[in-house]
Amino acid sequence: MRPLATFLTLLLLLGCSQTLLLTTPIDTPTPVRTAYSEKAMVVSAHPLATQAGLKILEAGGNAYDAAVAVQFALAVVLPAAGNIGGGGFLVGRDDDGSTYALDYRETAPLAAHRDMYLDDDGQVIQGLSREGHLSAGVPGTVDGMVQLYDSLSALQRWDLLVQPAIDLAAQGFKITAAEAGGLNRLAERFRKYNPASCPLIKADGLWQEGDVLLQTELAETLQRISDEGREGFYGGLSAKYLLAEMKDAPIQEYFVRKDLNDYRAKWRTPIECNYRGYKVHSMPPPSSGGIALCQLLQLVEPYPLEDYGFQSAESMHLIIEAERRVYADRAEHLGDADFYPVPVDGLLDPAYLQQRMSDFDPERATSSTDISAGAPSPRESEETTHYSIVDTWGNAVSVTTTLNGGYGSGVWVEGAGYLLNNEMDDFSAKPGAPNLYGLVGNEANSIAAGKRMLSSMTPTVVSQDGALRMVVGTPGGSTIITSVFQTMINVLDYDMTMSEAVQAGRFHHQWTPDKVFYERGKVSEDTLYVLGQMGHSVNHRGGIGRVDAILVGLGGELEGAADPRGDDHAQGL
Ligand code: GLY
Repeated sequence: MRPLATFLTLLLLLGCSQTLLLTTPIDTPTPVRTAYSEKAMVVSAHPLATQAGLKILEAGGNAYDAAVAVQFALAVVLPAAGNIGGGGFLVGRDDDGSTYALDYRETAPLAAHRDMYLDDDGQVIQGLSREGHLSAGVPGTVDGMVQLYDSLSALQRWDLLVQPAIDLAAQGFKITAAEAGGLNRLAERFRKYNPASCPLIKADGLWQEGDVLLQTELAETLQRISDEGREGFYGGLSAKYLLAEMKDAPIQEYFVRKDLNDYRAKWRTPIECNYRGYKVHSMPPPSSGGIALCQLLQLVEPYPLEDYGFQSAESMHLIIEAERRVYADRAEHLGDADFYPVPVDGLLDPAYLQQRMSDFDPERATSSTDISAGAPSPRESEETTHYSIVDTWGNAVSVTTTLNGGYGSGVWVEGAGYLLNNEMDDFSAKPGAPNLYGLVGNEANSIAAGKRMLSSMTPTVVSQDGALRMVVGTPGGSTIITSVFQTMINVLDYDMTMSEAVQAGRFHHQWTPDKVFYERGKVSEDTLYVLGQMGHSVNHRGGIGRVDAILVGLGGELEGAADPRGDDHAQGL
């Protein structure tokens, strides 16, 4: 019997509970927000995940190996968004300049259909796509990681990449105050869908900072993934647990074995565009991120943002007007390009983009009712997560991964120990009906079996004259695109360091609702007043995004910047 199995059996024999621990739980270090290195860097949403990636880099792995280790570690230490029950997107760039995009987005299962969230009157049944079994798509993460490893690993030791996550799950780790708050907020949902044995449910009282989260069933699933690769998740005991869990779904056979057997991550060609002499590589459909980011950059490029000044009324007005137009296009034209003819070239055509700003008035806000999609897309519970890695060879990886809303569907797969996504809500349940983030969609993003739901995730890599310059991305639902865009222009136009760019206040407009959201206390009152006079509806809210990014200096030096809005941690080799 393997040592882990022996250890877990012993725990069961002893009737182990959350509080009876046979090994020392792993301490969570205090997050470090800014780090420098001449060699390699990992920035992620949790110190223990960052350290899992560094361990792999130290062992001779490349950025792709480290990405696999960080992904699995996040599945343990960041249950709100890190996952094996969800999906994600990766954009990578090798030192030789070749670029990659890996799509491990969830798919709608075979039983899914266009009207599955509508009642007999054709109205959206509130909540059905947002929580519980029916909100889940077929998970893509494990196949994504296996394909990444098979294609790009330098280390060629799959077991080493999964091991840090197994240790964290089996030994337990001390949770942060933010994690305790998240688990407490979701307590009711966890109790509604799961047995009391779910380790995310605290038996007595509320979770507190420093409590130990021990996930023995998750450790066993990770061990199967370590031993059997893809089959360790989509086949055997793991598949049995997942299919048994889905028997509670209101649609019979909502997931079937064929869904699991057929799921495949896909390699895609990154979206590319130029901005002020920099080359931008980002995620193509089924994410809207790359197209929307490139549209935004090219809409503002003709204007002297640097002269306007950071968050002056002039620059904010321009950016808001560009965002309004880009999100209108997103709603109409973007979806899974394997199912719908997304006009990628048309949306990025310079002539089209020039025409999109032809009615821009530098003095006045346009009304969103006067803007519709051109003719050739808030409020997430912010629980996607992003990580950025650069290795000693100069390979770069930018990964955004998610369960969708915080803790996904709330459904924890009994026996297998992981949470399922609620990604089905990213489809358009009905034309014009807003999703969790207030985003609307149309035919391009309607539900169909096997189709991938439209995303806003924007993992991005930037180069200049053939050299890597930036790795950037963030969680934040619909605000992902605008947060990545604003972080980039903070560095490229406003000359900030990466840390200054990540910490700077953000704002967001997504066409509908016709409102500008800004982070409370982060935009000057004067600017807000002028924007109001121009006709903008300005509204404050809490933090927008959690950007984890790396800036590469002209001499190759690395600045890692972790967002202080979360537990994010930057560390160099
Ligand atoms: N679930 C958020 C996104 O993919 O954009």
